[in-house]
Amino acid sequence: MKKEISRKFCVAPMMGYTTPYARKLYRILSKNSFLFSEMIATKSLVYSKSKHNIIDNDFNNPVALQVGGSEIDELTKASKIAIDYNYDEINLNVGCPSKAVQKGSFGACLMRDKILVRNCMEALQNDKIEATLKCRLGLGKDLNYEFFEEFIDEISKTGIKIIYVHARNAILSGISPQANRTIPPLNYEFVKKIKIKFPKITFILNGGIDSLDKADNLLKEFDGVMVGRMIKNNPFILKEVDKKIFKEKIKLVDETIINNYFDYIKPKLGLESIFRLLSPLLSIFFSVPHSKIYKSKINDYMKDQQINLIEELLLKFVNENKLG
Ligand SMILES: Cc1cc2nc3c(=O)[nH]c(=O)nc-3n(C[C@H](O)[C@H](O)[C@H](O)COP(=O)(O)O)c2cc1C
Repeated sequence: MKKEISRKFCVAPMMGYTTPYARKLYRILSKNSFLFSEMIATKSLVYSKSKHNIIDNDFNNPVALQVGGSEIDELTKASKIAIDYNYDEINLNVGCPSKAVQKGSFGACLMRDKILVRNCMEALQNDKIEATLKCRLGLGKDLNYEFFEEFIDEISKTGIKIIYVHARNAILSGISPQANRTIPPLNYEFVKKIKIKFPKITFILNGGIDSLDKADNLLKEFDGVMVGRMIKNNPFILKEVDKKIFKEKIKLVDETIINNYFDYIKPKLGLESIFRLLSPLLSIFFSVPHSKIYKSKINDYMKDQQINLIEELLLKFVNENKLG
């Protein structure tokens, strides 16, 4: 049975960032945000022996496992793995423009072949997990609403309930994946228009949401919002989400957040790199003046695996600075 879950506020999938460890920190900071894994290629998911470290979920629900692939058989297997790992959702990436991903025939280039994407979605679907899609508005320099509508129309035939839209095109050659997050212009109107055409599908708006006020305002017009870089740069913004977006009366104490996170990572030391364990927390210094000295001390402590000293230092830092 699939559970009813709010996707009003989602943290976007981000390779290299939304690791199992980051998701634990995000969950400590916000009970209600809907989380995503990084994109995992279906080949790695199905065949890699060390997949556990990448996809471990550890009850950070609600959470989606995002996959990249277009091999039907692998997608069906990936969906079963997502269920075994207690994910609430399996999401197909049809938005990544990188050359490597294009070579593997997945990501944004799949928008060229809506029938294939429909078949991929059908391969992911079963009655135990929600199968969803994350796509762009289209491909190339020119925005074309008809193309977007025809694409969604084909996918809608699968009975899909939730689609995340990074509301800009992907440009598949000549610009980097990073530039593909800024150069193609955003167009939120296309997402409004598609919702009118397919009112039964939940469309989650993604792209360029850079403050909680903006997210809150957009929620007046859209089913949900998905936020990437704002959270990557400063996860402590999530501290306000349950209050501001979900109207809950809660107060999180920065020291408790740090303590809880260290309680979680300490037993993993030795099994996982200290950098991977600590990196979700290290963006704590984002745009805080005079944090250089802390950063350099932490680097020294990391070399010697001095986890208790790092915890003490971070506690001192949060006592001296307001976060989020
Ligand atoms: C470092 C980084 C890695 C990303 N990795 C993925 C990914 O694995 N899967 C995906 O669908 N999108 C990925 N994205 C795109 C984001 O999910 C999101 O669509 C994009 O950043 C726009 O949202 P924003 O303006 O809120 O950042 C990535 C973005 C960044 C910054």
